Amino acid sequence: MKDYKQLVNGEQDRFIEELFELLRIPSVSADPAYKADVMKAAEYVKHSLINAGAENVEICPTPGFPIVYGEKLVGADLPTVLVYGHYDVQPADPLNLWTSPAFEPVIKDGKICARGAADDKGQMFMHIKAFELMMQQNDLPCNIKFMIEGEEEVGSVNLENFLEQNKGKLASDCVLVSDTSMLSMETPSITTGLRGLSYVEVEVTGPDRDLHSGVYGGAVANPVNILCDMISSLHDENRHITIPGFYDKVQELSLEERAMIARAPFDETKYKAALTIDAVMGEAGYTTFERTSIRPTLDVNGIWGGYTGEGAKTVLPSKAFAKISMRLVPDQHPEEITQLFKKHFESIAPAGVKVEVKPHHGGFPAVTPIDSDEYRAAAQAMLKTFGKDPIPARSGGSIPIVAAFEKVLGLKTVLLGFGLDSDAIHSPNEHFGINNFLKGIETIPYFYHNYADLKRK
Ligand code: BES
Ligand code: MN
Ligand code: MN
Repeated sequence: MKDYKQLVNGEQDRFIEELFELLRIPSVSADPAYKADVMKAAEYVKHSLINAGAENVEICPTPGFPIVYGEKLVGADLPTVLVYGHYDVQPADPLNLWTSPAFEPVIKDGKICARGAADDKGQMFMHIKAFELMMQQNDLPCNIKFMIEGEEEVGSVNLENFLEQNKGKLASDCVLVSDTSMLSMETPSITTGLRGLSYVEVEVTGPDRDLHSGVYGGAVANPVNILCDMISSLHDENRHITIPGFYDKVQELSLEERAMIARAPFDETKYKAALTIDAVMGEAGYTTFERTSIRPTLDVNGIWGGYTGEGAKTVLPSKAFAKISMRLVPDQHPEEITQLFKKHFESIAPAGVKVEVKPHHGGFPAVTPIDSDEYRAAAQAMLKTFGKDPIPARSGGSIPIVAAFEKVLGLKTVLLGFGLDSDAIHSPNEHFGINNFLKGIETIPYFYHNYADLKRK
């Protein structure tokens, strides 16, 4: 077996410099102002794939941002791995909280700092570089197909259709994704579950215009006050969600499964310190780790209304708004949950206000097996490069397309992430450890070798 640690070390400066070039492209999919940059990032990915040795590389248009496809087929008798990742990133705001500009990558304390460093440009790029090394070494033991999209951060709205229309071209034995985190560098883990998502925006309307809060205050429903009442009623004193039917399809885990989860090391003191909070809070009867993985949640992501400018303006607002996300677990159905939310939220609106609930994107939860060849191949690869058997652990985040890989392509996914929860993805000062980046590139070739060996048997 080739020594990929040594091979990675020999190229690491170039790999980091190339990743920096990609990170300099502000490919924010949510903001139309960055449209040309998102396209530029797709081009960059295309050229990286070509330079690494991929064939049939193309930028496949969609009604939104394109999907970059490329492949290297080395033998009809060899297993085929579909690599998925995304080249789009979250918006960088609030910009003033970044200690260096979001799209001017720098290295600080051994970490690559930039928007997208970990989510997902850095992790996706590990796959291109690992592939490049394997090609250079004439050491590719599997067929590889790359499918890198540009709309993950806006709900992958066109990707499922792309899967439907390209079933033949995408036919593979499994999907490999690096877009999640590990427990820590000392406790490598493989993600075995993702939560689903239901996302809504609500609008509460009172009087048809803003009013003087002295003249009318006390006599007219204030939409901001009412919205706050309504939102706070969505949890009870045990922080259970009060929407009727919300938990009906939630799979309760067995005590054995919960004991497995509890084996993952968790230091609450460090957890709180890292977030500068003095207490954790969540659903009664569950640990912090369970609350963020096997339990569904409801969170306000943003709330606004009335006067929010400088100084004080005495006004009783006409409208109040909030964006609310619900993270879902098996077997909750995103559209069903959105409907339950809508029905309940409309039913609790008091007389004097009107309520509108607008659904946004959603996604199904997913769990991935640990008794599969792809899981074993990934676990053995991590054992080799980290010196420790990884722990299977469910994650709280969502990658909605993973459920569609199974539904449309009939493929299981292995979520081999190398990030850390502390990487500040979606936050100011996102970063990705250089060691994580290099370890990822080193681990991936061993995955392919293990997978080819396991499939041969
Ligand atoms: N890579 C993340 C998901 C993730 C992060 C999974 C950390 C596990 C650990 C992905 O890019 C993401 O941010 N997904 C969104 C959902 C999407 C529909 C906007 C999310 O989870 O909020
Ligand atoms: Mn991601
Ligand atoms: Mn993300």
